[in-house]
Amino acid sequence: MTTIGIIGAGTVGSQIARAAIANGYSVVIANSRGPHTLGRLIAELGPSARAATAAEAAAAGDFAVIAAPLTLANTMPVEELAGKIVLDTNNYTLYRDGHFAVIDSGEKTIHELRQEQLPTSRVATAFTVIRATILLHRGRPAGASDRLALPVSSDFPEAVELVTRLNDQFGYDTVDGGPLSESWRFGPGTPAWRRADGTTYGGQGREDLVRNLKAAIRARQEP
Ligand SMILES: NC(=O)c1ccc[n+]([C@@H]2O[C@H](COP(=O)([O-])OP(=O)(O)OC[C@H]3O[C@@H](n4cnc5c(N)ncnc54)[C@H](OP(=O)(O)O)[C@@H]3O)[C@@H](O)[C@H]2O)c1
Repeated sequence: MTTIGIIGAGTVGSQIARAAIANGYSVVIANSRGPHTLGRLIAELGPSARAATAAEAAAAGDFAVIAAPLTLANTMPVEELAGKIVLDTNNYTLYRDGHFAVIDSGEKTIHELRQEQLPTSRVATAFTVIRATILLHRGRPAGASDRLALPVSSDFPEAVELVTRLNDQFGYDTVDGGPLSESWRFGPGTPAWRRADGTTYGGQGREDLVRNLKAAIRARQEP
């Protein structure tokens, strides 16, 4: 059985854990406050899940998910994530994280910063444009007319492959959004991230996603 180490047990981390277990994975999941605070979630997830520290979750995973915001002071377990594919769900969120100058200037994307913080891992974006609360139930079989597509960016083809496979298992198509330097194309505020009706990230079909990635205009933030 493949084990996913999930760092972050909030809205996104817990939903990915539910979807992963529903698809035959086991998960080792962590938050920042310690495994003793995750009893209720583990009881709900059942025997395929256990709570751990972030370092233990990273070490236990065949691959890992970081479902926690990036902070400029790196708090991720770099050594335990070394050599692994790491899926990053994070979105650059000003009201929560404040301004990061290299992102505001357009020099870097938030996911390039994650890759820099994990130089011995292979980072890919995952599940960044879908609201976590619909992730589990909005999946559809391959070929369904209303199947949504999710973008992935990575500098490593094997990480793109892994995300594509996982998306497919969860019921989503995948569109390769190119290297991490291009991941701004589906960051907050872009057409790919917004719903057609203007509300935030509900997802879109493959053709719309391809069109939306092309239509993205890179915003420069005022510091
Ligand atoms: N919510 C969505 O629908 C959605 C969709 C797509 C992407 N995202 C992105 O996904 C990420 C997670 O979002 P969320 O809504 O799940 O946030 P959340 O509910 O606030 O959960 C964040 C989780 O990360 C944990 N955490 C933070 N720093 C950590 C650290 N250093 N080590 C271990 N765990 C740490 C927190 O632990 P504690 O609770 O113990 O502090 C919490 O369990 C964010 O970056 C967000 O931008 C969110």
